[in-house]
Amino acid sequence: MKKTFSLILALLMVTALFAFTGCSGKNDQTLDGIKKAGKLVVYTEAGFAPFEFISNNKVVGVDIAICEEIAKEIGVELEVKDVAFNTILGAIESGKAAIGAAGITITDERKEQVDFSISYTTSKQYIVVKADSAIASYADLAGKKIGVQLGTSSDFIITDAINGTTDDDGNHVKGDFEGSGATVSTYANPNLAAVNLKDNKLDAVVTDKLPAELIVQNSDGAYKCFELVYPDGSLTDESYGLCVAKGNKELLEVINKVLNKLIAEGKIDQFIVKYSTEVTAD
Ligand code: ARG
Repeated sequence: MKKTFSLILALLMVTALFAFTGCSGKNDQTLDGIKKAGKLVVYTEAGFAPFEFISNNKVVGVDIAICEEIAKEIGVELEVKDVAFNTILGAIESGKAAIGAAGITITDERKEQVDFSISYTTSKQYIVVKADSAIASYADLAGKKIGVQLGTSSDFIITDAINGTTDDDGNHVKGDFEGSGATVSTYANPNLAAVNLKDNKLDAVVTDKLPAELIVQNSDGAYKCFELVYPDGSLTDESYGLCVAKGNKELLEVINKVLNKLIAEGKIDQFIVKYSTEVTAD
């Protein structure tokens, strides 16, 4: 009887310990929790140069350089994890990581899931095609095989153009390529999509400006790219932010403080030049 009691007590204590130390999978990602753990965990998807890419088996890039400054400011180590892009927001929400840093476009939909920092740079959608392709405009994508990175703004733009959307009254709004025979294929990152341009498995890849330009620069003349311009002449316009769990205010304040400083010192632009050159040299 006494033995059983001690066993139950021991089990209870172990359970409590797990709950406290975060072994249950949920970590304390508040500023205090990060300081206690001694590390800042950042999730990214490293197929998106110059913002994040693998160099010498390490994830580097603009977002990582920014997060290094944030870790320094907090006084902890930085731990970067390379995961699927479409899982990053969920991981931030559930506390697996403190910061999502992946050239993430700030959108109203995403704001329902996470909190965003101030914007540290802007981007536009670009279309990458083979150098000898006849595709010269967004409208030319009608009937074509288009590749995008899963869960990105490019994915949403092309998928909506193919399937159409639903307006506030529940009415179907025809998409630009609806019924044209155009298809969308999703990939883990834009580089993997671009590989499929070579053997004509895809006709075009849609992704953000700098990643598109670097794909072209590193293609030995195989590809070219141009800006996505809608038929009415309008352009896409996106702003990148880092994201944290909803209500993680103190961490967000540190992030914004560091970002404001980096922006004021022109460091973000320097990081962009540095890592664009580094990935091209690779
Ligand atoms: N800016 C785009 C978005 O937020 C694409 C980001 C992709 N980032 C990455 N690291 N793969 O949807």
